[in-house]
Amino acid sequence: MKDYTFNDYRKMVEDHLMDFIPDVDHKSITLYESMKYSLMSGGKRIRPVLLLAACDFCGGNLREALPYACAIEYIHTYSLIHDDLPCMDDDDLRRGVPTNHKVYGEAVATLAGDGLQSAAYEVMSRDMLFYFDDAEALKRKVRAAYEICKGAGCRGIVAGQIADISVGDQNCSREMLDYIHLTKTSALIVAAIRAGARLGNADEDTLEDLTVYAENLGLAFQIRDDILDVEGSEEEMGKKSGMDSKNKKATYPALSGMEESKKWLNTLTEVAIDALSKYYDNAEVFVKLAKDLAVRDK
Ligand code: IPE
Ligand code: IPE
Ligand code: MG
Ligand code: MG
Ligand code: MG
Repeated sequence: MKDYTFNDYRKMVEDHLMDFIPDVDHKSITLYESMKYSLMSGGKRIRPVLLLAACDFCGGNLREALPYACAIEYIHTYSLIHDDLPCMDDDDLRRGVPTNHKVYGEAVATLAGDGLQSAAYEVMSRDMLFYFDDAEALKRKVRAAYEICKGAGCRGIVAGQIADISVGDQNCSREMLDYIHLTKTSALIVAAIRAGARLGNADEDTLEDLTVYAENLGLAFQIRDDILDVEGSEEEMGKKSGMDSKNKKATYPALSGMEESKKWLNTLTEVAIDALSKYYDNAEVFVKLAKDLAVRDK
């Protein structure tokens, strides 16, 4: 593994994020602009960075991984646009700017989300078209795409989002809350890591260790998000605070209290880091990221 930092990987993604957005006919320019608006208005880029870092960790080629890194950020951004819609969380602020539907209206925002999601599948499948003569490379890519589709779909984000909007803060069991967080958030983080690992042709043991890391990191990430909704500053986060209690969401602080939530966040972070302990310094980028995310303010 090279000595790339989070910021190095983030820059690689940032520099290429618009490369794979399909050129649209000028008649559809509003669609293009609204997709670009949400995609390029900031964002920590955690999922594509994890994908590149996992690929690198497993000895893969970062250039080969870039379309898949961008694809996962397209899917994440679409999920945020739809998550903010009035029929979902009804949010006004995202990534420090008005939400997509506040600028373009609900219909365009819905379509911008659809456009970003399908752009992800287009970029991955287009990449595979170039590798028909290289069965080994094609196998890596199909496996990576499968992870991403699975994380985005009815066993991942979509399952989590429907549970999230259906279950209120009353009578939500701990088991149900874990299910919501594992699906709506962890699933795409697991997908990022597993896709990167597949692109790096990881062996099954390494894949399993990375999966344990990602699952726990993803849960911890959503718990920190829930905590920030109570304690965080709107300015730092670039999104409104207090929305979960307003929307009566099932969250860790609502179910178990703030102190317990913070303890659990730290435990999950330790479990994530422990999963990679046998790799020592080679896993430094993952260890540092887990520690940083546990105390993030945005
Ligand atoms: C926000 O994700 C949605 C959750 C899953 C909590 P991020 O906190 O990664 O949002 P961006 O991409 O940095 O805006
Ligand atoms: C969102 O969870 C998870 C997604 C799949 C988008 P939240 O609804 O808590 O995310 P924020 O707080 O709006 O970013
Ligand atoms: Mg939500
Ligand atoms: Mg939300
Ligand atoms: Mg939230």
